[in-house]
Amino acid sequence: MSFDRSIKIAPSILSADFANFGAEIEAVEAQGADWIHVDVMDGHFVPNLTFGPPLCAAIRKHINTVMDVHLMISPVDPYIQAFADAGADVLTAHLEAGPHIHRTLQAIRGAGCKAGLALNPGTGVEDIDYLLDMVDLICVMTVNPGFGGQKFIHSQIEKVKKLRAMIGDRPIHIEIDGGITPETAPLMAAAGADVLVAGSAVFKGGSVQNPAPYGENIRAIKASVAS
Ligand code: DX5
Ligand code: ZN
Repeated sequence: MSFDRSIKIAPSILSADFANFGAEIEAVEAQGADWIHVDVMDGHFVPNLTFGPPLCAAIRKHINTVMDVHLMISPVDPYIQAFADAGADVLTAHLEAGPHIHRTLQAIRGAGCKAGLALNPGTGVEDIDYLLDMVDLICVMTVNPGFGGQKFIHSQIEKVKKLRAMIGDRPIHIEIDGGITPETAPLMAAAGADVLVAGSAVFKGGSVQNPAPYGENIRAIKASVAS
């Protein structure tokens, strides 16, 4: 996984057909997805439940790009090895998930994954100075985590600008998660983001049988950023 700041679209399979993940992933990659974003929820850290390591292991063989696993779980540490064994390329934990995020990030890199740090909309960037040399990606949540299809929170634009300045030349991706559309994507690209997670805006109107809308949706987001 090489580093660059070009805009990457990471469709969230939270908006895919849960009975058909393998085919959905292959369809969305064929239609131009750069990464595949996998939302893991525990019904405790967030008020929703999705899936765990066995599902990640099962879909791994259908992913040819980057498997970007977003852990909305607490605690995190007991499950890191299982998600690494399942084949996660990027493993992202929330700053808010427990008192020892430093240890968690060390453990993620120790397990051979790129380490991601996610921040809820209410969390500032003031406390992450001492974590910057331990992370490969920072995920700025632009909705409260738990559900797809929510409204983008505009106050996060300022946060991304601050973060971009703090990161400087470090090889750290800025990922945006929640409410990304052709209207909101350019705001975040201008602020300094390079990975745009999009669930509903990518999967709307398409299916495994009719995947062309996935491509149209991905190109619409990319075009909005380029203009
Ligand atoms: C929210 C998830 C997101 C979500 C994005 O908890 O982390 O990845 O699926 O969905 P949209 O793009 O529909 O806001
Ligand atoms: Zn996510």
